[in-house]
Amino acid sequence: MSDSKITAPDVLAAKNARKLAVITAYDAGQAALAEAAGADILLVGDSLGMVVLGQPDTLGVTMEQMLHHVAAVSAGAKRALVLADMPFMSYQADVAEAVRNAGRLVKEGRAQAVKLEGGREIVPQVRAIVSAGIPVVGHLGLTPQHVSVLGGYKVQARTAEAAHMLLEDAKALGGAGCFALVLECVPTQVAELVTRTVHIPTIGIGAGPGCDGQVLVFHDLLGLYEGFKPRFVKRYAELGALIKQALAAFAGEVRSGEFPTRDHSFEMAPEEFSLLLSRLEKP
Ligand code: KIV
Repeated sequence: MSDSKITAPDVLAAKNARKLAVITAYDAGQAALAEAAGADILLVGDSLGMVVLGQPDTLGVTMEQMLHHVAAVSAGAKRALVLADMPFMSYQADVAEAVRNAGRLVKEGRAQAVKLEGGREIVPQVRAIVSAGIPVVGHLGLTPQHVSVLGGYKVQARTAEAAHMLLEDAKALGGAGCFALVLECVPTQVAELVTRTVHIPTIGIGAGPGCDGQVLVFHDLLGLYEGFKPRFVKRYAELGALIKQALAAFAGEVRSGEFPTRDHSFEMAPEEFSLLLSRLEKP
């Protein structure tokens, strides 16, 4: 594997050539681990709100919070492409504001690309951000920033009509200049159809095996998030249980006096300590 930085054109060129592995990351350490494991793209998702900030959904995540974590991931990533989610209400209301906020994620956070949720209604924003020189990834299907109108985290595009709308949205996003497209929680057949139709790579999450790549949330795939576990998550480790075990061992040893031992402590030279004691004894 080459050491040079993966770029948006590299991701585009992966279509029909190789599958893309995408992992979310929220700090420099996670970025370094995911990259060493072979991730092509590190997504600083607004899932930050749930898995790191303890919020019930992604809606409260701010630009300042995203910038803080995107900068940390960028500092830890040498090769993988750093993709930053644009948080709720940082791009929906106004095209100029969308460009300014995308620009901040690149300038201050050092992201290489940004991701926006939505279909044809955000095409003006996508065009303007791409024109400003910032690569854009689209996100269709279950778009968590629309959870209130969707009525929950449900599989989308289950009817012929809804799937047709999604396909048109995907074509519009590809036409507007997106270099990749996340498909979240859509039936396998719909994801395959979109993947066959658009010229850009599709990255699935709960969208079946037919996509050009797959993404999972770092905490979900490592068993670190104790909230809801969606059906599409595969846990490759149970680190939460392992961490609790290690922390409980520490707390137990502190209470029993087993930790620390001399091996974890520092000694003063005996003559210096005697000198100290003799000084203290003098009136
Ligand atoms: O915020 C996020 O982590 C995401 C992925 C689930 C695709 O958008």
